[in-house]
Amino acid sequence: MRMVVIGLGYLGATHAACMAELGHDVLGIEIIAEKRELLAKGEVPFYEPGLPELLERHIQTGKLAVSGSYQEAAEFADVFFIAVGTPQKKGEYSADLRYVDAAIDELVPLLKRDALILGKSTVPVGTAQRLAERVAELRPDIQVEVAWNPEFLREGFAVKDTLHPDRLVLGVFSGGTAEQVVRDVYEAILNEGTPLIVTDPPSSELVKTSANAFLATKISFINAIAEVCDAAGADIKAIADAIGYDARIGRKFLNAGLGFGGGCLPKDIRAFMARAGELGAAEALSFLREVDNVNMRRRTRMVELAREVCGGSLLGSRVAVLGSAFKPESDDVRDSPALNVAGQMQLQGASVTVYDPKAMENSRRIFPTLDYAASALEACVDADAVMILTEWNEFISLDPARVAAVTRKNVVIDGRMCLNQTEWVRHGWVYRV
Ligand SMILES: NC(=O)c1ccc[n+]([C@@H]2O[C@H](COP(=O)([O-])OP(=O)(O)OC[C@H]3O[C@@H](n4cnc5c(N)ncnc54)[C@H](O)[C@@H]3O)[C@@H](O)[C@H]2O)c1
Repeated sequence: MRMVVIGLGYLGATHAACMAELGHDVLGIEIIAEKRELLAKGEVPFYEPGLPELLERHIQTGKLAVSGSYQEAAEFADVFFIAVGTPQKKGEYSADLRYVDAAIDELVPLLKRDALILGKSTVPVGTAQRLAERVAELRPDIQVEVAWNPEFLREGFAVKDTLHPDRLVLGVFSGGTAEQVVRDVYEAILNEGTPLIVTDPPSSELVKTSANAFLATKISFINAIAEVCDAAGADIKAIADAIGYDARIGRKFLNAGLGFGGGCLPKDIRAFMARAGELGAAEALSFLREVDNVNMRRRTRMVELAREVCGGSLLGSRVAVLGSAFKPESDDVRDSPALNVAGQMQLQGASVTVYDPKAMENSRRIFPTLDYAASALEACVDADAVMILTEWNEFISLDPARVAAVTRKNVVIDGRMCLNQTEWVRHGWVYRV
C-alpha cells in the first residue's frame, strides 16, 4: 500500500521505516531541510538502535523516500499518517497543536481524491473531532476521513515496538473506511495475534494520555515512598522488589531515583491536566499535579544530596555527571532530569563535567556552558562526587577501582539506583542514593 508519513522525528522516521519494512511504499514529509537531507541519504539524525539499518535498507530499495513537498505527498497516496510534534506550550500546561494544525492546513487543500488521515501524534481529547470539522470545511468536495491511531513506542526500542507492538488502537468516526485500511496497513502485525482495539476518536486519544499518566504515576508513587524511606531509614529497593512480585502491581516502572523526563511523559501529563480543566473535569486529574511535583522534587533532592556530599556547598566543587540523556539507549535530552540537575549544580557554583555515550551533541546544544568529557573516566578526573544520572550499561559496568584512581574523593551518588552497591563500597566508595 502507498502511504505518507508527515513529520520525521523520533516517531515519524521510525514509523516510516517500519511501514517500508512491512512492504509498503512510503513517502516521508519533513519540514526541516537538514533532517531531510540526512534521512534521504539513509542516515538517522538521532540515536535509535536498529533504525539506521532499516532506514538505509529501504531508502536503497526505494520503498521509502523523503520529501518536503506537500504537493508530492498529495499526489503520492491516499493514506496520511500525522506524526508531527505536540510539545508543551511555552508558559502553559497545554499542548501546542500548531504543528498538527499546520500539517492539516497544508495537506488538505492539495488533496486530489478521497483520503484517510490517521493521527499518530499524542493529542488532547477532542482534537480528532476538531480536525475532522476543519477538514470538512476545507474540502466539502471530497471525503477526507480523520481517525486516530496513537503510538506507544518507547525510544530505545522504537523499531521493535512499532513492528511488534503490545496492542494497536484505532479511534474511528462511524461510517468510514479507516478500520479496513488500518487492518490492511498492519496486516502482518495483526497476523501475529496483536490485539486491535477499535473505538471512537476521543477514547483513542484518551488511551494514549491515560497510559502515559499511569506510567508517570507509578514512577512518582515509588519516588514518594522513597521520600518516606529517607525519613524512616528504610530501603526503597527492597520495598520495590517485594511489592513488585505482586502480579497486580508488577516490578516495571518501580525504580526509585531521579524520576521521569523526556519528550513525552512530562508534557503529556501536563497537557492531560490542562485538557481536563478545560472540560470541567480538573478534579479527576488533580493528583497528576502531585505526580509532577514529586517528580520535580527528585531533581531538587539530587542537587541537595550533591551539595551535602560536597561538604555543604557546591561552590568550587568538581562534580562528574555520568549520563545526560533522559533515559539509556536514547540521545534525547528533552526535559532531561540529568541535564536539569547538572545545570542547577553549575548555577550553585560547581564545576560540572558531563559525559553521555550518545547524547553529547544534543546536550552541548541546549547546555553549552557545561563542561563535557570524551569518556566517563575523563569526566571523573579530580571529581569530588561522581553522579550516575542515566542508567547506561556503560556506567553500570564501570570498574569502581579504576574510577577511584582518578577522582579527588570517592563519593558516588547513584541517581538511578543501578550500581552494585556492595562492589563500590568494597572499593572504598561512599555510596549514596
Ligand atoms: N518520541 C516518542 O517516544 C513518542 C512515542 C509516542 C508518541 N509520541 C508522540 O509523537 C509525536 C511526535 O513526537 P517526536 O518525539 O517524534 O517529535 P519530534 O520533534 O522528534 O518530531 C516531530 C517532527 O515533525 C516535523 N514537523 C513539524 N511540523 C511539520 C509539518 N507541518 N510538516 C512536516 N513535518 C513537520 C519536525 O520538524 C520534527 O522533525 C508527539 O505528539 C509525541 O508526543 C512520541
